[in-house]
Amino acid sequence: MRVVILESAEQVAEFGATFFVNQIVNKSNSVLGLATGSTPVSLYEKLIEKNNSGAISFKDVTTFNLDEYYGLSGDHPQSYRFFMQQKLFDHIDVAPESTHVPSGDCADPHQACKEYEQEIQRYGGIDLQLLGIGRNGHIGFNEPSSSIGSRTRVKSLTYETVRDNARFFGENETQPTLSLTMGIGTILEARKILLMATGESKADAIAYAVEGAISASCPASSLQLHPDTTIVVDKAASTELSDVEFYLDVEEKRLALEQQLIVNSAAA
Ligand code: F6R
Repeated sequence: MRVVILESAEQVAEFGATFFVNQIVNKSNSVLGLATGSTPVSLYEKLIEKNNSGAISFKDVTTFNLDEYYGLSGDHPQSYRFFMQQKLFDHIDVAPESTHVPSGDCADPHQACKEYEQEIQRYGGIDLQLLGIGRNGHIGFNEPSSSIGSRTRVKSLTYETVRDNARFFGENETQPTLSLTMGIGTILEARKILLMATGESKADAIAYAVEGAISASCPASSLQLHPDTTIVVDKAASTELSDVEFYLDVEEKRLALEQQLIVNSAAA
């Protein structure tokens, strides 16, 4: 795992934006796995700017979102489809039919989950998957106890997650307690993974995910099995990591090596 510790949430968003820009520049028809929540909002703002300035185009990009609340239609203001339209899709040149979010108001959610998996396969799999992390270590809506081999399916949300997300729902609104989510197995098949976390409230989950044993108690710990995962955090989210000095040192050496390789190839 590559662990990148930066000073601020702003730098984490900037790092994430550069990561996505590089992916799209290297492969214009990338298949991107996307996330909702507070963490990626400023990353999406930066991608909108890059798209508007002409630095990148989403014309040939396909997207698959991690999850959706079961029971909410895409035009419900709390649905993840609505969130994605507002925060990203409506402001970039992606083709509407190339954006995929599990359907929260489908008649048969089990069938919809199967078809979502097939659709990901049909596009050749996900090139770069973006993740946030829940305070309980969830990724997507894979709550603690989710199987590492799980595929896209219907999942119950924990009380903790329902409580954490209650801030987005009005007092008289019914908050869903079920979701459709990519499984951990689905996520682990992405070629590259970028997990972003900011703020003190994520520090325990990050420490467990990076330094704890791989365990169903912390779904994000399963990322230790993935060959190309980058975890980028701000200082506040790094406070429970025990090997901070080592991660900073590794990153410094990695950058020095990259620069050396650039010099070598220019000289060759
Ligand atoms: C959202 C998702 C969730 C969030 C996580 C963190 O699509 O899959 O796993 O990434 O709950 O949410 P924030 O960023 O709001 O702290």
